[in-house]
Parts: sequence; C-alpha cells; structure tokens
Amino acid sequence: MMNIPLFDLNFDEAEEKAVIDTLRSKWITTGPKCKEFEDLFSSMLGSKYAVSLSSCTSALHLAMLILGIGEGDEVICPSLTFVATANCIKYVNATPVFCDVKSYEDLNIDPVKIKSLITERTKAIIVMHYGGFACDMDEIMRIAKEHNLRVIEDACHGPLSEYKGKKLGTIGDIGCFSFFSNKNISTGEGGMLITDNQEYYEKAKLLRSHGMTTMSFERAKGHATEYDVVNPGYNYRMDDIRASIGIVQLKKLEDDLKKRSEIRKMYIDNLCDIESIIIPFKERSEFSSNYIFPIVLRNSTKEKRNIIREHLRDAGIQTSVHYPSVHKFEIFYNADNVLPLTEYISKCEITLPMYSSLINENIEYISNKVKSYF
Ligand SMILES: Cc1ncc(COP(=O)(O)O)c(C=O)c1O
Repeated sequence: MMNIPLFDLNFDEAEEKAVIDTLRSKWITTGPKCKEFEDLFSSMLGSKYAVSLSSCTSALHLAMLILGIGEGDEVICPSLTFVATANCIKYVNATPVFCDVKSYEDLNIDPVKIKSLITERTKAIIVMHYGGFACDMDEIMRIAKEHNLRVIEDACHGPLSEYKGKKLGTIGDIGCFSFFSNKNISTGEGGMLITDNQEYYEKAKLLRSHGMTTMSFERAKGHATEYDVVNPGYNYRMDDIRASIGIVQLKKLEDDLKKRSEIRKMYIDNLCDIESIIIPFKERSEFSSNYIFPIVLRNSTKEKRNIIREHLRDAGIQTSVHYPSVHKFEIFYNADNVLPLTEYISKCEITLPMYSSLINENIEYISNKVKSYF
C-alpha cells in the first residue's frame, strides 16, 4: 500500500548539527543566530531589513500596528487564504473587507474587485500570493498609490518567488513570511517581517520584545546596561534554536524550489489533458516556490470533490484543501457577503502532494489515480 504524504520536510544531518551547535553554544533565545538568519533572509530577498519573529501571525499583527491601522479602519483582504491573514485585522479592531479572486485559473485577489471595495475608511490592502504565484502587483500598487493605501504582502507561500524580477514580499510596504512546519522553509514555528522602511523596522524590533529599547543579548554582551519600555509590546521573538534551523533551510531553498518546479511540470504534463480539471496558474513561467499544487474541478460540487479525495486517500495519497472560505467562518460571517469564485474554489479545489523529495514514480502514481477517477 502506497503512503504518500501531502508534504515532507527537507531535513537532514545539517539541521540536526545546527541545533546541536546552538544548544552547545548555550545561547538559545534570540541572539546571533536570529541576526544571521535575518541578514541572510534580507540579502537573498533583496529587502533592506528583516525581523525574525515567532510566526507569520505575529508578523501580520505587527504589520497592522506599525502601519497604524485601528478601530474604524477597513482593510481589504482575500478570503481564499489561511485565516491568520484576516484575524490580524481583527486584532487591531479594524474591519476586514473580503475580496474575491480573479478566476478559477488565477486564485489571487482581483484588483478590479479591490477597487470596487474601497471606501473613505479603507487604510490598507493585504494580498496573499497563493501557492507562491504572484498577485497582480503592478495594478495593486497603482490602486494603493491612487488611494493612499498601505500594502501588506502575506508571502507565506512564496519565499524566493518572483514577480517581474522582484521577490515576493519586497513589493508592498511590509512582507510577512511563515516558517511553520509545512512551509518551504520549516523551523517548527517561526516567521519573518521584511521592509525597506527604517521606521517600520525599528517599530517591529521594539514591538517584538515588550516594547523594550534593548534586547537581552545586547545586555548580556555588555553593549547595553539599561532599557526603557516605550510601548506595551509583545513577546513575538524567534529563538536561536529555530533560527539555526532556518539558516540551513534557507541555504537549501533554491535547490529545493528547482526540484519543485520539475515536479510541477510533470504534474502538468500528466494532468493537462483531463477536461474536468483546471490547473491554476498553468501558464505562469516566473520562478515560483510551488508551495502547493492545487487543482480545481470543473462543473463540480463539494460532495463530488470529497468523493475524489476519498478515492485518493484509499489509494494512500494524502490531499488537502486550500482553503475553506474565510468569510464564511462564524467570526467573519455576514449573509450579504457573497464571493462566488472563492466559494466555488473552496468547494471544488484539491491540493495534491508537493515537496522536493517526491519521486517520479509517485508523481506518476498520483496522476494515474486522478486520471483513473475521471
Ligand atoms: C497564507 C498564510 N498566512 C498566514 C499563515 C500563518 O502563519 P504562522 O503559522 O506562521 O502564524 C499561514 C500558515 O500557517 C499561511 O499559509
């Protein structure tokens, strides 16, 4: 019986050694490894500043605070995303305004629909680059400029993914990344906030550590002996154990993504002739992280989709759904809020296994099981 997981970690002895070295160094919380991870991350992405954090959820929360978003403000965001993209708007008592995607081929937020949702209360747009495929950033940045809105990129799916030669996360005001266990870079839990704005960077560093003006590491090294608290900040820090894993993962990332690109090509070759299946972003050629491999069923229903998922599960293939519509969750629900494309995709999307060590034989097996169903 086959047993093909949805995702597999790209870990080997290098991660183990990095953790052991950090443990033996006896500095395990935020310190030199976090700094090294931040420097490597910002240099690889081409951003001026990077701040390591406990998660992308904390990065999104800090982004809201740094940009001064609060009560009475509206933030436009997708609904076809992980709930953290919208929860962060609620943390600061602002209102999420959910926007539909472009099409069944392009699962990203639609700039035309963004425009129709702008009111005098709109302060920002959060975009999420689905699967590591870029949103229409030229148009979104143009709209943002015209209406004086800030842009936050939830780039959790797209480390090193590109849009017109720029890395995702570096185009808007702030970029947010996750290093949760199933992400392209896995550290267990973890996140990063990137920006080119020095003021935002300073604020992020302050807020991630209780609003304190110096960090423990600086004090331990004698660089600083006193601190002030200038803001009721949080403990959103990453630790050096996780950062040391992140450094190894980041060094492996480009090769990992090249393998994922080949896997995507094989899937597309195998599945593109099936009439009942849409392969989103099929024509995209820019470098992508290929975080996930989604397919959308044509003229289908949730019930039919679930039967196919069961057929795959019975064949030993783990699948997932990206994502249930966020605007339909109880805390966001409003009967007037209808996003037809997002709602259809939530019912009729299936995510197939995707990770760099997925072997050709398994890709053939998965593709044949999908084909045999139709
Ligand atoms: C699109 C998206 N946004 C936000 C998050 C939240 O990230 P974290 O788990 O690091 O808080 C995730 C993943 O977990 C995600 O996929």
